[in-house]
Amino acid sequence: MLGNMRLKDKVAIVTGGASGIGFAIAAKFASEGAKVVIIDITGDKAEEAAERIRKSGGEAIAFQGDVSSRGRVEEIISEVLRRYGKIDILVNNVGIYRGKSFWEEPLEFWELLFKVNVLGIVIPSQVVVKHMMERRSGVIINISSKAAVVGEPGHAAYSASKGAVLSLTRAMAVELAPYNIRVNAICPGPTETPLLFAVTDEDERKRMASRCILGRLAKPEDIAGAALYLASDEASYVTGQALIVDGGMTITAVERF
Ligand SMILES: NC(=O)c1ccc[n+]([C@@H]2O[C@H](COP(=O)([O-])OP(=O)(O)OC[C@H]3O[C@@H](n4cnc5c(N)ncnc54)[C@H](O)[C@@H]3O)[C@@H](O)[C@H]2O)c1
Repeated sequence: MLGNMRLKDKVAIVTGGASGIGFAIAAKFASEGAKVVIIDITGDKAEEAAERIRKSGGEAIAFQGDVSSRGRVEEIISEVLRRYGKIDILVNNVGIYRGKSFWEEPLEFWELLFKVNVLGIVIPSQVVVKHMMERRSGVIINISSKAAVVGEPGHAAYSASKGAVLSLTRAMAVELAPYNIRVNAICPGPTETPLLFAVTDEDERKRMASRCILGRLAKPEDIAGAALYLASDEASYVTGQALIVDGGMTITAVERF
């Protein structure tokens, strides 16, 4: 299943790469010739994901680790650098979801969502950019959400954490541009992953699909295609942007007709 080798010999880290969107990105990058490093809190699933990629002819290794734990992230990045000597691409894909009405969302939600969804990007990025700045080369992709750009009921803390990811992306892009490091974000709409299936039933997913002008929810591979574009040299003049990949959900107020 090898592609056009648009990422030949690039070393790419994908956080949360054991499942859903992260796995699709890891598999796509490997099929384009990248050496992929999966970091995921679930060690067994991460190892299985890397094994699936290797079985399809790609190169992938896995590390168990929590991206909001600086010590563990530093250990993993040192090991990756010892093994491959460089890191070209960092995809900050980890994100968790909790949702209640705004007035009911407990402080613990807010703390957890900002810890994982925001610091879980800050920490790997701070560790990896030191190396990228020395090499004066690198690409970072942060996974935000459509919830960052439109108001939605039932998950203010999640939306706010994903909005913070967009501000962070712009700040990082400005500060890292002098080092030839591009930083962009992707805002997926509802995507058929274990996360979405855990928090919606079939009727809800049908309703969501009817609000996408393309008439269906995203597959993880749809998001991986956008990540490949942003990671590749084809996006060499693109930085500080948020690419909304949502089947047109956010550009219309009407259901599909
Ligand atoms: N699925 C959707 O509809 C959707 C829509 C918009 C944005 N997103 C975003 O896309 C990203 C991926 O979501 P998904 O749907 O593929 O989720 P998922 O739950 O299927 O996968 C997330 C992965 O991250 C791992 N993970 C969770 N916390 C971690 C931590 N602290 N450290 C390391 N690994 C951790 C999980 O083990 C899992 O393998 C998230 O940032 C999510 O917010 C998803």
